Amino acid sequence: MTTDPSSQPAGATTLDVAKIKGDFPILNKPINGRELIYLDSASTSQKPTAVLDAMREYYENSNANVHRGAYFLSDLASRSMERARKRVAKLIGAPSSDEVIFTKNATESLNLIAYSWGRANLNQGDVVVLSLIEHHANIVPWHMLAAERGIELRFIPIGDDGLLDLSHLDELLDGAKLVSVTAMGNVTGAIVPVQRLAAAAHAKGALIAVDACQLVPHVATNVAELDIDFAAFSGHKMCGPTGIGVLWARKELLEAMPPFLGGGGMIANVTTEGFSTTDLPHKFEAGTPPIAEIIGLGAAVDYLLDLGMDNIRRHEIELSAYFMRAMKEHHGDDVVIHGPSEPSQRGAVFSFAYKDVHPHDLSQVLDEHGVNVRAGHHCAKPLMKHLGVGATARASLYIYNDESDVDRLVAALDDAADLFSL
Ligand code: ALA
Repeated sequence: MTTDPSSQPAGATTLDVAKIKGDFPILNKPINGRELIYLDSASTSQKPTAVLDAMREYYENSNANVHRGAYFLSDLASRSMERARKRVAKLIGAPSSDEVIFTKNATESLNLIAYSWGRANLNQGDVVVLSLIEHHANIVPWHMLAAERGIELRFIPIGDDGLLDLSHLDELLDGAKLVSVTAMGNVTGAIVPVQRLAAAAHAKGALIAVDACQLVPHVATNVAELDIDFAAFSGHKMCGPTGIGVLWARKELLEAMPPFLGGGGMIANVTTEGFSTTDLPHKFEAGTPPIAEIIGLGAAVDYLLDLGMDNIRRHEIELSAYFMRAMKEHHGDDVVIHGPSEPSQRGAVFSFAYKDVHPHDLSQVLDEHGVNVRAGHHCAKPLMKHLGVGATARASLYIYNDESDVDRLVAALDDAADLFSL
């Protein structure tokens, strides 16, 4: 088990990408008349048949609301949902599945931390330390709290190597109550030494929350070994459906935190005078949960665990090395790839500039070749400002991508140069 995202699993890659591609229906048919070369998994991953089947199976054979009906079908749905929770707990090394809270997505999970833990624990002058590579989902909730409570936000800067510059960490952490950082940047793929930050935060009496959106789908993650306090991630980036996210937190924190949303399912009792909350995890799951999505996420976890998270990480390191080599060999200085140059220090997500072609134009030209990349600021405007760009094109690779997909991108870029007569 990889304990820190920046450590590299030993051994050889054993992923059979051709077989994996066969598991994803959308990758095996023409889309808009073209073969699909899907390079946007950092936005959302594609979904394997096993996930689609699990959701269909639920609706066809066990659709009922959970935890409310004392009848067979409701019990079946409840057991399927709780099994999925246990699978998620296993995937991230959570000591108890009661610590796994289902949310709508990672954005909601991060908002839950800020709203519930933040409002209960942070006051005027308290410091929250973020980093310059954060997604807006891990910036805006803290800005909202800063406006309300007068907390101070500090940002860990970026070094010339594209990694976080931790040389002034000690000063940054002075007075900090919380460090909230991504484990892997969604723009540059930069890997953050979470374990080191956790130790530094705890030494100062601060907690640490981790945006694990780009980590959990790609790297073996163990929240206990990382010694973190909160983790947030989304199902749809890890072969699961949209509409389902996870908040993991240490039990004693969740027990002490006030609820986020109020309603059915999260109470022990309600009177005309007030209410009391039920036990974890349901205390934070008001209303009918996204049952089919949770079951789909459970199937996605099974799928990833069957492939092996260390195999996935090795595959992505090798593919990253190939990506950077192929882009450099074919396009030389016409391509600028942002972020760390060492494959083991990054995820397989590449924001790049190509000559003077605007990223949106680039994305459209590549689309004509069936190559799907994202263009824009990737919800990381402070990082864009640091990079001195308004937008980038971004290719992000996953388990179903191989060298031939990278070759297709590399070749399609020639067409962009021809089209814009560069
Ligand atoms: N957070 C997702 C991305 O980086 C949407 O594309």
